[in-house]
Amino acid sequence: MLLVIFSGSRKGRIIFLNGASSSGKSSIAVQLLSVLDTPYFNMGVDVINGLRAKERTLELGEDEIREVLVHTRAGFHRAVAGMAHAGNDVVVDHVLSEPWRLIDCLAVMSGLDVVLVGVYCDLEELRRRENARGDREIGQAERQLAKVHAHGLYDVECDTGVLSSRACALRIKDFLARPAGTRAFDRLRERAVAAGTLGPDQLGVK
Ligand SMILES: Nc1ncnc2c1ncn2[C@@H]1O[C@H](COP(=O)(O)OP(=O)(O)OP(=O)(O)O)[C@@H](O)[C@H]1O
Ligand SMILES: [Mg+2]
Repeated sequence: MLLVIFSGSRKGRIIFLNGASSSGKSSIAVQLLSVLDTPYFNMGVDVINGLRAKERTLELGEDEIREVLVHTRAGFHRAVAGMAHAGNDVVVDHVLSEPWRLIDCLAVMSGLDVVLVGVYCDLEELRRRENARGDREIGQAERQLAKVHAHGLYDVECDTGVLSSRACALRIKDFLARPAGTRAFDRLRERAVAAGTLGPDQLGVK
């Protein structure tokens, strides 16, 4: 019997939105899907979290939920890389508030075109949004803000305290129309390999 498996050569692009909670990542992702000329997927970490059995998750203790969240995030990174390797363009919405999350993404998204977008918003506005939303732990955005941009390198930056989600999406679209240069993700990966944080044998989806 002849077995035929998928073997397309196209690799998708990843637009990676990183910012603190309430900075406006998911809102930009929605606008990007509308303004981009080709059909992108919207894969947010909150969407992946929402796929897990809610009642069983609520029964978990503190250590157990921590463990589950590590597996969820690691699975999310690999799911995104898998989609792009199968030729799909993806908008990723994530919070890089722990160093391992970025290192893991640099490893599993190796060989893919990743456009890293810094989503900024001033603390006062973040606090206002957090309070208005009412479904987020108060202070979460402030804690994340101190860590989430620590790597200090982006391809594009947006300030949602100043720009609408639509304007941010259009700025990202403009960036994509420019000739491709070295991406922030590639520089960060080189930096991590040089520092020994990432071994050359750890690159690619494992
Ligand atoms: N550019 C903007 N201007 C004004 N308000 C905004 C803007 N972007 C988002 N908001 C508002 O901020 C809140 C949070 O937005 P959003 O859900 O997109 O943030 P997020 O970064 O995805 O947050 P989380 O990490 O918690 O999922 C929403 O109430 C949204 O309406
Ligand atoms: Mg979100």
